[in-house]
Amino acid sequence: MSDSPTYGFDTLQIHAGARPDPATGARQTPIYQTTSYVFRDADHAAALFNLQEVGYIYSRLTNPTVAVLQERLATLEGGVGAVCCSSGHAAQIMALFALMSPGKNVVASTRLYGGTVTQFSQTIKRFGWSAKFVDFDDLDAVRDAIDDDTRAVFCESVANPGGYVTDIRAVADVSDAAGLPLIVDNTSATPYLCQPIKHGATLVVHSTTKYLTGNGTVTGGCIVDSGTFDWSASDKFPALSAPEPAYHGLKFHETFGNLAFTFHGIAIGLRDLGMTMNPQAAHYTLMGIETLSLRMQRHVENAEKVAAWLENDPRVDHVTYAGLPSSPYAERAKRCYPKGTGGLFTVALKGGYDACIKLVDSLEIFSHVANLGDTRSLVIHSASTTHRQLTAEQQEAAGAGPNVVRISIGIEDADDLIRDLDQALAKASD
Ligand SMILES: Cc1ncc(COP(=O)(O)O)c(C=O)c1O
Repeated sequence: MSDSPTYGFDTLQIHAGARPDPATGARQTPIYQTTSYVFRDADHAAALFNLQEVGYIYSRLTNPTVAVLQERLATLEGGVGAVCCSSGHAAQIMALFALMSPGKNVVASTRLYGGTVTQFSQTIKRFGWSAKFVDFDDLDAVRDAIDDDTRAVFCESVANPGGYVTDIRAVADVSDAAGLPLIVDNTSATPYLCQPIKHGATLVVHSTTKYLTGNGTVTGGCIVDSGTFDWSASDKFPALSAPEPAYHGLKFHETFGNLAFTFHGIAIGLRDLGMTMNPQAAHYTLMGIETLSLRMQRHVENAEKVAAWLENDPRVDHVTYAGLPSSPYAERAKRCYPKGTGGLFTVALKGGYDACIKLVDSLEIFSHVANLGDTRSLVIHSASTTHRQLTAEQQEAAGAGPNVVRISIGIEDADDLIRDLDQALAKASD
């Protein structure tokens, strides 16, 4: 099918990027389990290596199964291209790789997945990059944090561990005024609930490990390129605007226009960093995406029901879910995320740390795992696990204090989830 923008989301999540296999007629996208592709002749090989012709060379760079997923995600997010990676964390490094160089910084929200806080506050220092964390509700603080060495602004749409929703348009206005790209991690919302590019994001990153695949089978990541940023407007992004020595002085932005970031991601990023998604992973994620809208509707419906029940329980101190009418973000959630704010939230227990530990050990339907966005309901005590490396202040800022458990609501029967939480809370309050 032609990926006409007139098709609805439900149609595109099944069809975008895919067509019956031209060699066999196979209706489902085949898993192209191959590392390399036979060149037609020596001229064809040379043209591919010179980026004069688009095609398949070697699966570290491109693979037909992965390419279908890339096109599907680009379509669902409203971007012009996408680069799939081996994990969400790989996608974040790949997104920054084209923009940063030693001495440069990214201005990031304090409300991020704990692993991202660690990646940005510790690991990227090894590349000579740094991150400045600020409260993205304080737009003046975001403006003040941006300096001459800033090369990107980074936030999550619906932040993990939950309860916080970013006003992407407001943040995009700040990054636009500074001439900087805005990168939005859209893992928890998915393009069904939010399309950050429509709100002004330059790049969208995903951990496809979560809702996009939806069944807890594979790790993967993706960067979707809006194609809207002018990489040549300043001299801040030489990887995209200046001559590239590895391709005989080719300038990515001049040569590939609005696909500059996508081509750079494949031809330099995947080629040299090698954080490639494998075709099996792309296959599982393509399977998952076919039912994304149906699952997200159910995640939202269940989360709203379970969060409302928890909020009224005397053993619970508070619930941070932007989908609750009592949330301080309820107005923003309605305005920016009208289809709902996802299936992720946190619950603070009056019994504190010990009650949280007893709760996760007593749940029967919920699984205690370091994952989210599965059809199954999942739970974790973030402070002792995913957010363990963070300081107490960072844990509080991320909404992952010691008295808090993170819940990822699945698509089971909501009444069964409530019954399970009820019996586990009883044990946790003994
Ligand atoms: C919001 C968010 N972004 C990124 C990541 C990293 O993704 P991955 O585990 O696929 O590397 C995670 C993982 O939990 C996440 O929750």
